[in-house]
Amino acid sequence: MGSTTHDAHQPPSILIFDSGAGGLSILQEMRRKLTGEHFDYLMDTAFFPYGNQRDSVLEKRIVELCVTAVAKLKPDMLILACNTASTLALPHLRAALEIPVVGVVPAIRVAAGYCDLNGLSEFGLLATPATVQRSYTDQLIEDFASHVTVHRFGSPILVSLAERHIAGENVVPMLSEHLQPWLDQHPDMKTIVLGCTHYPLLRELFESLWPQHTWIDSGEAVARQAQKVWRQAHTEPTPSAVGGPTTHLHWTGLDEPSGIRAYLSEFGEQTQIASFSEP
Ligand code: DGL
Repeated sequence: MGSTTHDAHQPPSILIFDSGAGGLSILQEMRRKLTGEHFDYLMDTAFFPYGNQRDSVLEKRIVELCVTAVAKLKPDMLILACNTASTLALPHLRAALEIPVVGVVPAIRVAAGYCDLNGLSEFGLLATPATVQRSYTDQLIEDFASHVTVHRFGSPILVSLAERHIAGENVVPMLSEHLQPWLDQHPDMKTIVLGCTHYPLLRELFESLWPQHTWIDSGEAVARQAQKVWRQAHTEPTPSAVGGPTTHLHWTGLDEPSGIRAYLSEFGEQTQIASFSEP
């Protein structure tokens, strides 16, 4: 782990992987911390959405695709920017790759700490149908939140709503209709963990529709952890990227995913795009 294989004249690079646009919420946090590095962003749009797939199919897919992508793009680090993928395949991926791999899991510990500080006895976990059922998630709850009540909601549609939102569609009526019954069912549940990297893309909408709730995601914590691992593996100064930060966007499906290019340009990213051909 931690070998520095990049050309000394090139900025080191980090590969961010997700099924779709969700990892952009992690990329954004990473950009706040690391400015000289090059990012590759790979979306497995051919298999999107992950949260509705069978575990055995998904695990094989994630490991094979990430191993191929690392061989091809030669990043110095991989961020598995997907809760659905991390709660299933993180150990297998770490075993299969020689570079550091950082995963994203629901911020159960943070939410439990927040409840303790504020005298609350329950919080909600909003994630994909796959993530809410995982034994990894059970273990997180048992380890960090066994003293509070955790209400889980596995949403089959929020991931798609997030993608549609960044492509410019008004998803407010659907979002409201979808989540309000769950929130009404648990009137004292005022803290919600966003256990999917797509959901922070909807944060502004969550906050304006339900201003009394606190929405907790893993983005900042993951970026901090990734930065720590990165600094441990790369003690040499990072050469500054010529012309500013760059991200190369890759996807596995047939069509260019909509909305991504505009989203990246909004936060000042120079983006090059290329579909990702699998062997
Ligand atoms: N961004 C992924 C996650 O964090 C979404 C999974 C999906 O494609 O359903 O879980």
